[in-house]
Amino acid sequence: MKSATRFFAAVALVCATPAVSETMREAVLRRTALENGMRPFEETWPEFEPEKAAVGKLLFESELLSLTRNVSCRNCHLDEFGSADGLPLGHGAGGVGKGIERMKSPAGVLSRNALALWGRGGVGFDVFFWDGRVEASSGDVRSQFGTMAPSDDPLVVTVHLPPVEFREMIGESDATEWLRQGEVGAATRVHAEIARRIRETPEIAVPLAVASELEVGNLTYLQIAEAISAFIRSEFRLRETKFHRFVFQSEPLTDQELAGGLLFYGRGQCTACHSGAYFSDLKFHAIPFAQFGFGFNGFGIDYGRYNFTQDPQDQYAFRTPPLYNVTKTAPYSHSGVESDLGAAIRAHVDPLAAIDTSGLSALDRTEVYQKIARWSLEPSYAVELSDIEIAELVAFLTSLEFDPEPTR
Ligand code: HEC
Ligand code: HEC
Repeated sequence: MKSATRFFAAVALVCATPAVSETMREAVLRRTALENGMRPFEETWPEFEPEKAAVGKLLFESELLSLTRNVSCRNCHLDEFGSADGLPLGHGAGGVGKGIERMKSPAGVLSRNALALWGRGGVGFDVFFWDGRVEASSGDVRSQFGTMAPSDDPLVVTVHLPPVEFREMIGESDATEWLRQGEVGAATRVHAEIARRIRETPEIAVPLAVASELEVGNLTYLQIAEAISAFIRSEFRLRETKFHRFVFQSEPLTDQELAGGLLFYGRGQCTACHSGAYFSDLKFHAIPFAQFGFGFNGFGIDYGRYNFTQDPQDQYAFRTPPLYNVTKTAPYSHSGVESDLGAAIRAHVDPLAAIDTSGLSALDRTEVYQKIARWSLEPSYAVELSDIEIAELVAFLTSLEFDPEPTR
């Protein structure tokens, strides 16, 4: 009898002392985070050559990479917007200024939201763009280059694409009309012209030649892309976040962050897709976000992954976005339709809350039904989240922020 009383007293003590039950919640969060792929940030660091990274920075910031000489990679991947551009849709060739300022200039407007670069090309990160049109998840690089891929490094292949995209880095004018004619080798000609310019720019060409162990005269776009890839791997490596310190060094989270973390890995089912070292399974899923702008397929439609596989299962599916620094990269979704992080999460679980179908044409409404039908196949379908819980998830996502180290 005496020992039973002591047992009940002990249970009462556990329930009454927040510090103890808190620790149990913390232990659950640590365990599930590790089970779902959380890793020390250094384990994601890829190898790169520092000399190439240093010259890659010059190339990343050079307008010589734009055929019409009016945009650099940096114009859309800015530090102040978490390496994206702060706009719903990318604004390329001809644009002036940063953030919403840029919307006032006569820029070429893209059909997709600019992606951040954190962790890209890190260990195991081998699926690129919203629709994965460059990927090496099966070992071989698959891209629109087919068997002519310029490299077996998928990031190097990815870096071949921005300079040959109209509106992104090529302005539309009579002088660039030849590119539109679907001429065989058009992309090769653009790459050759950019390489020629770089060879004629000693402050870039000389260090690039040294880093690449080639003569300046032999530099091609491949060495340019390799240097930019080294820069991306160095500059945008994952760094330590509050959540790393929580998981690996027992630093506490706030109550709200902790609650959000438990939802993220628990009932919210976010890790059905946002799993692994980058908070992305690097696979393709359909979340019925509303569509902003003209769309990749035109007239407000973007079929996402389907464009490359023609598999009906891939309709409206996009690569799960990684979530490091996601608090800094508003607006959200492949078309930037969600200006707010909470609304982006809400759209996952209650898409019609944000889409007023009564104002749509019958055709557009059908489009919404199709998206929702595709979404209903996803594991997270119909999870219920209150406003308080969404605020907790947002608080959890702030624990995934970090600042890059200042570039040497
Ligand atoms: C006009 C704005 C713009 C410019 C200029 C630009 N980008 Fe981007 N970048 C984007 C957009 C938009 C996307 C997403 C496109 C998509 O997925 O369809 C993107 C995606 C990427 C990705 C893929 C990231 C991921 O998560 O898979 C990389 C890498 C990248 N850009 C690097 C570069 C480099 C290197 C340059 C310069 C050679 C450059 N970008 C120039 C807007 C831009
Ligand atoms: C079924 C897979 C899946 C699940 C489950 C899921 N997501 Fe997503 N998430 C995605 C995909 C795919 C996108 C991008 C879709 C698009 O843009 O069309 C996305 C987009 C996001 C974005 C916007 C990111 C950006 O850069 O634009 C955030 C934030 C986000 N998810 C958080 C969450 C949270 C929090 C949960 C849990 C409540 C969750 N997701 C559950 C697949 C998923």
